[in-house]
Amino acid sequence: MAIERATAFAPGSVGNVGVGFDILGFAFGAVGDRVTVTRRPTPGVNIRAISGVPDALPQDAEQNTAGGALLAMQEALRLPFGFDVEIEKGIPLSSGLGGSAASAVAAVVAANALLDVPRPMAQLLTYALQGEAIASGSKHADNVAPCLYGGLVLAIGAEPPRIASIPAPAGVRAIVVHPHLQIATKAARAVLRPDVPMPSFIEQTANLAGFITGCFAGDLDLIAASLRDVVIEPQRAHLIPRFEAARDAALSAGALGCSISGAGPSVFAFAREECAEAVLAALLTVFASRSIASDGWVVDLNSRGAHVLPT
Ligand code: HSE
Repeated sequence: MAIERATAFAPGSVGNVGVGFDILGFAFGAVGDRVTVTRRPTPGVNIRAISGVPDALPQDAEQNTAGGALLAMQEALRLPFGFDVEIEKGIPLSSGLGGSAASAVAAVVAANALLDVPRPMAQLLTYALQGEAIASGSKHADNVAPCLYGGLVLAIGAEPPRIASIPAPAGVRAIVVHPHLQIATKAARAVLRPDVPMPSFIEQTANLAGFITGCFAGDLDLIAASLRDVVIEPQRAHLIPRFEAARDAALSAGALGCSISGAGPSVFAFAREECAEAVLAALLTVFASRSIASDGWVVDLNSRGAHVLPT
């Protein structure tokens, strides 16, 4: 007999990682969402409570990322029962830290624990992606996939994407800083031009290939040479006050690379372990100089993905 109620934690994530727009991301457990799902006798998804954020989020399941993911699961599996849902947001809204993905992923991971026959991760990914699409308008997996699988992952192809884990290079840590501002993902996507000039395409392709190769080879010089976003970052930098100063300060403090986390306003950097705290301090200082409060973390690149919490 399956259990009736489960709570799952899903970590924050950094989408794009600069060079992999919509296809590359890593999880980090310093922040995360918790979702409790309870079986109810009749089909349907009922969002009973949302806590942890000051702004109201949609409680209509079809408008909510967790609700949308569960509806997708329910429809695909033709479940004869429904779900009551409680969402505890630990990831700030519109922060660029994968909050919409985390709610969707935590919901499907918790619900999976209630199924008579739990489904594989690849199937959960497709349901969570339908939830993510509610918030961002598109089914990109660069937050959902690392949030579900953990670590640094590449999402290849679509419907469903194939997920490849990229090894975390030894001796490297990530720095994530969240300035207390909000940028709606849809708005940050709307500023992007639909076409990429050929020279930028070539450079960005080389940077992504160089970055991935550097991770597999543990070649930090190659990572440093490659971790530069020449396509998306230049189009979004103006959305984040002091972004260029922050990135330059991080690089001066020894970062291997620094760019926008997802759609922003959060930023991330990679750094050798011994430089990580200095890079964090440099980023915080730049935002503080504009009186923008921010939180920041030094995190591992192999954080655990979403999981059911013990009861
Ligand atoms: N890859 C996405 C973007 C992440 O940058 O728009 C935010 O959902």
